[in-house]
Amino acid sequence: MAELEALKQQAAVRAAALVQSGTRIGLGTGSTARYAILELGRRLAAGELEGVMAVATSQASEDLARSLNIPVEPLTPEPLDIVIDGADEIDPQLNLIKGLGGALTREKLVEVQARRFAVIADHTKLVSRLGEKAPLPIEVVQFGVDSTVERLRALGARGELRRDAGALYITDNGNYIFHAHFPENASLASLERSLKGVLGVVETGLFLGMATVAYVATPEGVRELH
Ligand code: 5RP
Repeated sequence: MAELEALKQQAAVRAAALVQSGTRIGLGTGSTARYAILELGRRLAAGELEGVMAVATSQASEDLARSLNIPVEPLTPEPLDIVIDGADEIDPQLNLIKGLGGALTREKLVEVQARRFAVIADHTKLVSRLGEKAPLPIEVVQFGVDSTVERLRALGARGELRRDAGALYITDNGNYIFHAHFPENASLASLERSLKGVLGVVETGLFLGMATVAYVATPEGVRELH
């Protein structure tokens, strides 16, 4: 466990080194992204960085950034120079499953505007096929959720609404999350299209063709994957 934490931190520090003064940064969410935010805060405090502006993908990341004196602004249509975020699964084409931290919608909104989207992870996140280990998080509106879940099941999804300590999990956007498993042979692009067409679905945790680079920490060092 302590070793995995050290690996997450190594990947995060490597990506945070890409950030230059005066740039617009997207801050991810989760335990690995947290290390990147801490490192950016450290670099700012040490005078290694100045004049940066950040957009956060969750309230938790925004609160952490502000506590480190990283200036945070709302998302505008202006592109972000670099976004640094974790992932739940990374396939060989750098397609991702994201959202087990519950921030998938804001993450996708921010990452789609990135000139460079750097994924940071430890090696346990590498898979040969998305869905191998992790469920696919799908954000759904609260109203009529049972009907939305029925529509998802009709598409072949197995799974349940996310609960934390027994209570239905509510995202920063006030929605629920359905954790889905799909048949192994599902094509990712058509699955994404179908899911986005389901009434009640806000966003999916499939991030296809969005990542520019992945820094994946292994016991032998940090690998840079393209
Ligand atoms: C949050 C995310 C996270 O990036 C993802 O869950 C990975 O988190 P961690 O670094 O804690 O393993 O998508 O919505």
